[in-house]
Amino acid sequence: MSAVLRGRKLLFLFMPQEQATFNLRQVRDLLGAQAGRFDVDHVASCDSTNTQLLTRAERGSGAGTVLVADKQTAGRGRRGRQWHSAPGSSLTFSLLWRFTREQRLEGLSLSVGIAVVRALSSMGVAELALKWPNDIWLMRRKLGGVLVEVVHGTHGDMATVIGIGLNLQRHADWDESLGRSYAALVESQAGLTREAVLAAILRELLAVLDVFAREGFAALTDEWMQYHAMLGSEVSIEQSGLVRHGRCGGIDALGRLEVDTAEGRLRIFGGEVSLRTA
Ligand code: BTN
Repeated sequence: MSAVLRGRKLLFLFMPQEQATFNLRQVRDLLGAQAGRFDVDHVASCDSTNTQLLTRAERGSGAGTVLVADKQTAGRGRRGRQWHSAPGSSLTFSLLWRFTREQRLEGLSLSVGIAVVRALSSMGVAELALKWPNDIWLMRRKLGGVLVEVVHGTHGDMATVIGIGLNLQRHADWDESLGRSYAALVESQAGLTREAVLAAILRELLAVLDVFAREGFAALTDEWMQYHAMLGSEVSIEQSGLVRHGRCGGIDALGRLEVDTAEGRLRIFGGEVSLRTA
């Protein structure tokens, strides 16, 4: 904030939040022994870190490639939605990870949610939850989301791009477009930097992706259930224009959500589904 004296009036001008340069070295230091597992790159601006890494995946970039962007001009969310982010107010990044062709990828994006919650919890953030399939909640409002995209690798493998977006600060533009329904990490009072949050999430992703590759989502289902934001709630599910109502149950070993409706139990894959409290 700066003060300007004009005539007799003292005007206070609120300057846009200053954007400190992203410190890649700090991320490497925080990763310690695990720094060698990642190749972290930072850009001031790009269309979408997921789009960029999908291209790099096709060109043969290795597992562990990470791209962080201060700003995305075409950030993408689930169901074709735009993902809002702003320099200094968001952490937006993607990680390229490779699996064998035989690997079943059901539950991968739910597993990523576990890594994010583990990382933030370890840094003192409380009141976190996961809203099926891909949302991270803080104090029952959306803090962030996960977008996983898959391409066939060139060496008989499968390349996945794991995109994560987190709100760090509230932002005036979002207040208008998203309403009051979102949360920002600043509300947790944990005083976290983007570098520290990124390093913590990457560490937890290593552990979670390792378990996922060896044992599949079945090994992570119980942990996901501990953070399940909607268990027991009356919900409505919209899929291809069809809306159904029921009571939200748990998830199964493939990450499918169980919903008990008047017509019986539904098991729903993530995909193009919208889940809301009724
Ligand atoms: C959602 O909740 O709809 C998922 C949001 C995922 C956003 C992240 S930000 C980094 C990466 N790049 C993108 O374009 N999307 C993901």
